[in-house]
Amino acid sequence: MASYDVIIIGAGPGGYVSAIRCAQLGLKTAIVEGRETLGGTCLNIGCIPSKALLHATHMLHEAEHNFAGMGLKGKSPSVDWNQMKSYKEDVVGQNTGGVEFLMKKNKIDWLKGWASIPAAGQVKVGDETHTAKNIVVATGSVPSSLPGVEVDEKVVVTSTGALDLPKIPKKMVVIGAGVIGLELGSVYARLGSEVTVVEYMDAVCPGMDKDVQRGFKRILEKQGLNFIMGAAVQGVEASKTKAKVKYQPKKGGDEEVIDADVVLVATGRKPYADGLGLDALGVKLTERGQIATDAQWRTNVPGIFAIGDVIEGPMLAHKAEDEGMAVADVIAGKHGHVNYGVIPGVVYTTPEVATVGATEDALKAEGRAIKVGKFNFMANARAKAVHQAEGGFVKLIVDKETDRILGAAIIGPGAGDLIHELCVAMEFGASAEDVALTCHAHPTYSEAVREAALACGGGAIHS
Ligand code: NAI
Repeated sequence: MASYDVIIIGAGPGGYVSAIRCAQLGLKTAIVEGRETLGGTCLNIGCIPSKALLHATHMLHEAEHNFAGMGLKGKSPSVDWNQMKSYKEDVVGQNTGGVEFLMKKNKIDWLKGWASIPAAGQVKVGDETHTAKNIVVATGSVPSSLPGVEVDEKVVVTSTGALDLPKIPKKMVVIGAGVIGLELGSVYARLGSEVTVVEYMDAVCPGMDKDVQRGFKRILEKQGLNFIMGAAVQGVEASKTKAKVKYQPKKGGDEEVIDADVVLVATGRKPYADGLGLDALGVKLTERGQIATDAQWRTNVPGIFAIGDVIEGPMLAHKAEDEGMAVADVIAGKHGHVNYGVIPGVVYTTPEVATVGATEDALKAEGRAIKVGKFNFMANARAKAVHQAEGGFVKLIVDKETDRILGAAIIGPGAGDLIHELCVAMEFGASAEDVALTCHAHPTYSEAVREAALACGGGAIHS
C-alpha cells in the first residue's frame, strides 16, 4: 500500500498524459492499468494500429494505381497479410514501450491491474488498497453495438477485431459511415475486399458540412467503396464463417439482406467505467451514461475527477490529452483550461478529411452572418503531383463583419496537419486576412489554405 497525491485510473492518451503533467507539477503520481501494455485503446487497438494499416494499404494503392504512370514499372506488390499485421504490431509496440519509458522517466508508478474505488481517497488494485488525495478516472470507452447484432470478434467484429482479422475477407459489410467505418472500410477496400457501407443517415460523417460529406463520399466511391444510405440495420445473422446483414430502407419498402464474410460494426462507442464502483460512491452520470463533471473535471464526489471518453464531448484522443493536462493543473492549484471550440477532427483516409470549429450549415441555421472562402486542390500544384487533388478543397467559414475565422474544413493531402494552421489562427482570434497576408511556401499544400483565406476577401489567385 502506498500514498499518492494523484492516482490516475486508465493509461490511454488522457490518463498517461495527465500522469506526466501531474509528475511535472511535483505531484506524487501513480497510474493504474490492467492491460499488459500502456497507451489504452488509442495505442493498442485504435488510432495507432489503424494508421499503420492505412499507411501500408495506401502504399499498395499507389503501387497498383499510380506507379506505372510515374514511370515506376514492374509487378505490383502482393500482400503478405501476416507480415502487414506484424508491422502494425511492431508500430504499436514501439509506441506502448515509449509510454512505459515516459512513466519511468517521470517516476510515475504503474499499478498493474484493474482498479476500483472503495471510497473517496482510496484505489484498490488487486489485493492492495492505495490512498490518493485525488483520483482521476480516465477509463475511456468501448464499442457500442446494436440490438440484434452480436459481436463475436471473428465474423461480426468491432474495430478491435477488424484490426486483427485472420484473413482478408472477400466481402465486408460495414455498419455505420462514421470515422471508424470509413477508415477501416478504406483499408479493406484497398486490400481487395468488396466493401459495402450501410448507413442510417443520408450522408457520411454525421456533423460535417453537406459539401464535405458529399465530396468525401464521392472520393470514397471512386476508390471502390459501395454505400447504402438511409438504411437502418435491424440485425445480423451469423454462422462461423458468414453473415447476413438485414436492413430496413428508411424511405419504406421491404427489409433487405446483404451477405458478408465479415461485418464491421462501427456505430459509435460508449463510455466505460465498469467495475470502479462509481454507483456505490454516488458519482453522478449524465443521461447518456457519461460521468458528469463540472468545468474543471470534478465529479460530484470531492477528490474524484474524470476526463476523456468517459465524460461528455467528442471521443477523441487529443481532447482527452488536453483534459488530462488541464485537470493536472487544477489538482496542482493552477487554472486548467480546454478550449472546446477549437478541437480538430481528422479522418485518416487518403485524402484526409479535417475539420475544426463551427460548420457552415450550423451557422447558417442559426442565422449568423458569415462569409465562406473555398479553394479547390485541383489548382494546387503539389496536390496534383501526388494524385490527391481531385475532389479536395479547403473551406474557411468566417464572420461577415469581423472576418474572424469561425471554422474550417479540408479534404486533401495532409489535411490532418494543415488544419492546425487554422487551429492556431482561431486560438489567436485571427481573421481570414491574417492568414491571407502570411507568406506560405511554394509549392506546398498549405498554399490552398492561404488561397481559401484570400477567397474570403478580394479573391483567390489561382481560381
Ligand atoms: P460515429 O458515431 O462516428 O459513426 C457511427 C455511424 O453509425 C453514424 O453515422 C450513425 O448514423 C451510424 N449508425 C448508427 N446506427 C445505425 C444502424 N442501425 N444502421 C445503420 N447505421 C447506423 O462512430 P464510430 O465511427 O464507430 O466512431 C466511434 C468514436 O470513435 C467516434 O466518436 C469517433 O470520433 C472516434 N474515432 C475517431 C477517429 C479519428 O479521430 N480519426 C478514428 C476512430 C474513432
